[in-house]
Amino acid sequence: MLKKDENWWRQAAIYQIYPRSFKDSDGDGLGDIKGITEGAKYLKSLSLDAVWLSPFFPSALADGGYDVADYRNVDPRLGTLKDFDAMLKALHAEGIRVFVDIVPNHSSDQHLWFQEALASKPGSKARARYIFRDGRGKNGELPPNEFVSHFAPSAWTRSKNPDGTLGQWYFHLFAPEQPDFNWDNREVQLDFLKTLKFWSDRGVDGFRIDVAHALKKDFSRFGHEHSKKDTMTITTTGRDILFDRDEVHEVYREWRKLFNQYNPPRVAVAEAYVPSVRRTLYATPDELGQAFNFDLLGAKYSSKEFKRIVTENIALAAQSGSSSTWVLNNHDVVRTVTKYGLPDGTDFSQYLLSDGTSAPLNLELGQRRARAAAMFIMALPGCTYIYQGEELGLFEVADLKHADLQDPTWKRNVVLKRQRVFFKRNNKYINGVAEIHLEKGRDGCRVPLPWTSSGPSFGFGSGKGHLPQPLGYGPLSMQAQSKIKGSTLDIYRTALKLRKKLQTTEEFEWIKTGDPQVVHFSRKNGWHCITNFDGADFTLPKGEILHSSSPLKGRKLPKNTTVWLKA
Ligand code: NOJ
Repeated sequence: MLKKDENWWRQAAIYQIYPRSFKDSDGDGLGDIKGITEGAKYLKSLSLDAVWLSPFFPSALADGGYDVADYRNVDPRLGTLKDFDAMLKALHAEGIRVFVDIVPNHSSDQHLWFQEALASKPGSKARARYIFRDGRGKNGELPPNEFVSHFAPSAWTRSKNPDGTLGQWYFHLFAPEQPDFNWDNREVQLDFLKTLKFWSDRGVDGFRIDVAHALKKDFSRFGHEHSKKDTMTITTTGRDILFDRDEVHEVYREWRKLFNQYNPPRVAVAEAYVPSVRRTLYATPDELGQAFNFDLLGAKYSSKEFKRIVTENIALAAQSGSSSTWVLNNHDVVRTVTKYGLPDGTDFSQYLLSDGTSAPLNLELGQRRARAAAMFIMALPGCTYIYQGEELGLFEVADLKHADLQDPTWKRNVVLKRQRVFFKRNNKYINGVAEIHLEKGRDGCRVPLPWTSSGPSFGFGSGKGHLPQPLGYGPLSMQAQSKIKGSTLDIYRTALKLRKKLQTTEEFEWIKTGDPQVVHFSRKNGWHCITNFDGADFTLPKGEILHSSSPLKGRKLPKNTTVWLKA
């Protein structure tokens, strides 16, 4: 059962479920809501406080569900609202709270409102919910400006009028199937309040807010800004055309009023890719309450980097009155096992494009370092996030075949190259055009989980999964690892259980080690965490050894290992 505690979220262990790849209860290859219910006991065995579900709403899956066609429903392939309620009840019964992913910046092009907008005239009420503009050029054939999309190339797509002629252009920060909402439109604002209320009334405990920094845009500069704008670069002024505008905070202040009508108040965490000094603005108690700190996602496995990031983020979180979040993996980035197991300086994008052949992966080293990093963040004050499969030591599946890839970043980052190819059969040169992909995309961290050592999809479902699993997944499955003491799963289970028991106030202190490769901090109750990143064996100070991420050498801490001590 859930414990009554308004502050439960401040130092929680939260597990991200990517529903389509978690567990497939009906054998159609897609993980589903009943699959999550079936997994409740497993989730319980991880001593979690909450799970965050990536989108499970009706979607054409142009961006893995981040293209939502109906915000207040469940994708029929994944289940029904009744299944959702049953899942929520089952997880709550195990003491696990549930976060839902809200995607407010854009909808799917299949959303009723967008379909209505396409069927309506320029200047209509239906078009005003999105961002439609006339094109430049004699016949409107040029996009209104040169903004580029995160998923490349242009952030504008020309719409077709109902009679089939070409019409206005609409704006999309991501894929063309993800038109951006106009957040100056009151109807849009009210509809999201309705969505948040809908899920809160069903008993959902919190929300993860997708691209929280992008809702408000300066339309007055849209018509004039024709220069190419790299939409990934964000200024810190609050006056950027597209991102992190000061007005966005009005939206979240209104949301907070709604969250606070519930007991306990609903919580929220912002996905705001903004410079760290601006992140705190989203995390204040009168707004979302917490914001993702993604600094470790981009960091190298390095004692210096980790220490700097922790120091900075603990201070930043305190400034906003929130606690920090620590995230090593999610559904958008290369899994840590692969990141830490590749030689320094490896270009991950190249590695993936080469199907994992451009650099040698040391899997054992990657897993060992990933466990050390995980136990390091788990001991910090604040929330620890775990992305499904991280607890199994899963690696990035780098050799997915091109035909299997689903990510729009693979499909859209393409250039065409003229080629002259010799055809043996008719002994001729043929002129052709080849597609060169510049990104392989994020599918490699979204491969269905292995539950059992064997079976058509290693227990994920009764048939094959929507993305193929590597042949060697069996020994990494939960079933296989549950039997092995010292397996990654066993180490995570013990660590998370202990973490719950040891959790204390948010005070924290660095302790000098005399070795730049060894990082040591302690919590108020005498809980010590020491990580030897890459140094010589380190002699442990006094204290009871509670747990370690890999075997110790007596009282010596080998490199790539974290230990917890009780002083
Ligand atoms: C961030 C999500 O994490 C990512 O998966 C998605 O593609 C974009 N937002 C667009 O919604």
